[in-house]
Order: sequence, then C-alpha cells, then structure tokens
Amino acid sequence: MTDRKSQKPEVRVLDTAHPDPVDIAAAVRVLQDGGLVAFPTETVYGLGARGLDRSAVAKVFEAKGRPRSHPLILHVLGEDEARSLAVGWNERATRLAQAFWPGPLTLVVGRAEHVPAEVAGGGESIALRAPVHPIARALIARLGEPIAAPSANRYQTISPTTAAHVVKSLGAAVDLVLDGGACIGGIESTVIDVRGPRTRLLRPGGIDLPTLRAVVGAIDVATPSTADAAGDAPRPSPGMDARHYAPRGRVILATGMNEVERIAIAHRESGRDVAIVAYSAPTPATPPLRVHTLPHDPKGYERALFTTLHLCDDEGTHVIVVESPPHDDERWLAVHDRLRRAAST
Ligand code: TXA
Ligand code: MG
Repeated sequence: MTDRKSQKPEVRVLDTAHPDPVDIAAAVRVLQDGGLVAFPTETVYGLGARGLDRSAVAKVFEAKGRPRSHPLILHVLGEDEARSLAVGWNERATRLAQAFWPGPLTLVVGRAEHVPAEVAGGGESIALRAPVHPIARALIARLGEPIAAPSANRYQTISPTTAAHVVKSLGAAVDLVLDGGACIGGIESTVIDVRGPRTRLLRPGGIDLPTLRAVVGAIDVATPSTADAAGDAPRPSPGMDARHYAPRGRVILATGMNEVERIAIAHRESGRDVAIVAYSAPTPATPPLRVHTLPHDPKGYERALFTTLHLCDDEGTHVIVVESPPHDDERWLAVHDRLRRAAST
C-alpha cells in the first residue's frame, strides 16, 4: 500500500467571497464520485463527503484515523434541510437555528431513519450545522445534499485553520482541497443537545454560553467533574477524548507570566526548544524566549490559538508553556477546553 499521507492532494485556491463556480463544480464531482473534499468554514476546515452515502462516510473515518463510534456533523444550508434529517425537532431547535444559523452552532437532535447510522457513529442522534462560509455554502447548495464533515485533520491532532494545515495532516488521503485562506473563527462550532427537557452544552465553541442563553434560556454545562458523575449529569460529546487538539510538543499550562517564564526557563536550561504562548505582555525581566502573544479577548484568542500551535509544531518546539486565560469569565470556556485537551497527556 502506498503511503498517501506523504503524497499531495490537488489544491484549488478560491476567492472566498465569490468562489468560482468552475471550482465548486469540480469539488461536487469529486463528492459525487464518493471522494473527499476539504473546504473552509468560518470555524476550521472540514473534511467533506456525501453525508448520506455510507461508503463515502467510511472514507472520512479512514482518512482521519478516527474511531467509527465518533459521530460526524452533517452540514446543511438551513433549518428546512435540517428538519428533513431529524426526528423530534423542537421549538428550542428552531429558536437556536433562527438566531445562529448560518453560523458556528451545531445542534444535536434525533436521527431520521434515512440518515445512515454510520454518520452518527452508530447512534440515534445526529449533529447538524449550517455554516455561513460562502465556499461551504456554495458546495452544499451545488451538491444538493448534506455534507458530512469533521475537522480536516488526523484524529487527536490540532484542527486546521488553513489549507496548508490540511495538506500537512492528511496528504493525499483527501482528494481535493479548496483553499479559501485562513478561517476567521479559528475554533470549532459550539455543540448543543436539544433533545430531552434540558438544553445541554456538549462542546464549547464559536458561540459562547451567555450569547446562547440569551436566546434559549438555561443550558446545562458538562464540566470534567459533572461529566464523570453518575446519573443524568450532562456528558460531553461522544468523541470528545481528553487528549485532542494536541500538538506534537508538550503543552504546559501556567498561571501568570512569572510562573510561565519560570517554567519556560527551566525547560530551556535542560536543553529543550521552548515557546511561550501568552496574552499578557512579557515582563521586562523576560529573557530572550520565543513568545507568541495572542489577543486579550476570547474571540481574537480563538482565532489565533490553533494557528499558533501549528506554528510551534512546524518549528519543532518541544515544550509550549501557555499562560492560562482568565477563569472567571464564561466567554473563555472554549479556549480553556481546547487548552486542557492540548495539555492532557
Ligand atoms: O466547527 C465545526 O464543528 C467543524 C466544522 C468543519 O464544521 N467540525 C468539527 O467536526 O469540529 P468534528 O467531527 O471534528 O467534531 C464534531 C463534534 C464532536 O465533538 C462530536 O462528538 C460531536 O460534534 N457530535 C457529532 N455528532 C454528535 C451526536 N450525534 N451526539 C453528540 N455529539 C455529536
Ligand atoms: Mg475534530
């Protein structure tokens, strides 16, 4: 067997605002032939396949090296298409879809019988999202069917925010990459379960909790401790492994720049290649360490986080010391979630 990862896929560069119909048509042909197309969304790049075609969906799991029990998101144009794939679509689903679609919100609802169980990891629920990115929308519209798309990276690695990240991670396991530049969101969609009497957060993401609550009221949050509890406590999404979003280097979380610098210096003195990821300015005493300073607001930080971790990977960094963002503000929840997973060994 040839090693497809070391080979390169076809890459087409598109104008994000006005994707060329010729390129979209070429991508649709690949999908119709049962192939895989990576495409940009407003969150991260997706690895797309025809969502209702079992063998195309099987290729997605194969290309990612992802366990078959980890469900995929079906990407649709809007609420009408979503309803046709769901059972038990309810009033909360409508309210959320009307407020946040198209956009970085994924709704978990009951799975209609004609949706293959393979997409849903074998389960009875299905995750649905209507992306806002013009290239993603053009692709779904032209195909005329839902597109199953997880993030376009190998299992347990950092999600891709550029086409180059996709090529680096998947090689020719993907048939075609649509390059629409860097993703503006930079972190995956928020996943919300609207089945049952209580609305549950399964994965924090592009839309934060205060914004969601303003539309739908109370939301149960699965924290690492409640998720472990017995009974009906909320649980994180299936497929949300502790170790996820991990760069090759070791990620260490620390609070405050003094502590960050102390740890970084100790590792450097033992001969490792060290980088700091901070949002505060380095202290005047900072020795010449490699520092990536990210924006101080959650949205700006989200946009930069995965790109920065990919950069550290590309530079062969052994140890990445991250200044832990504020803990007293829910808007940082998605960032904390990704950092915790990146740091988990
Ligand atoms: O922003 C995003 O959501 C990106 C872009 C490409 O749309 N996609 C993405 O897909 O992040 P993926 O497969 O990497 O993550 C899907 C998440 C996982 O946490 C998975 O467990 C959850 O959605 N999920 C999917 N189907 C589910 C289901 N039926 N029930 C509960 N969680 C589900
Ligand atoms: Mg993923």
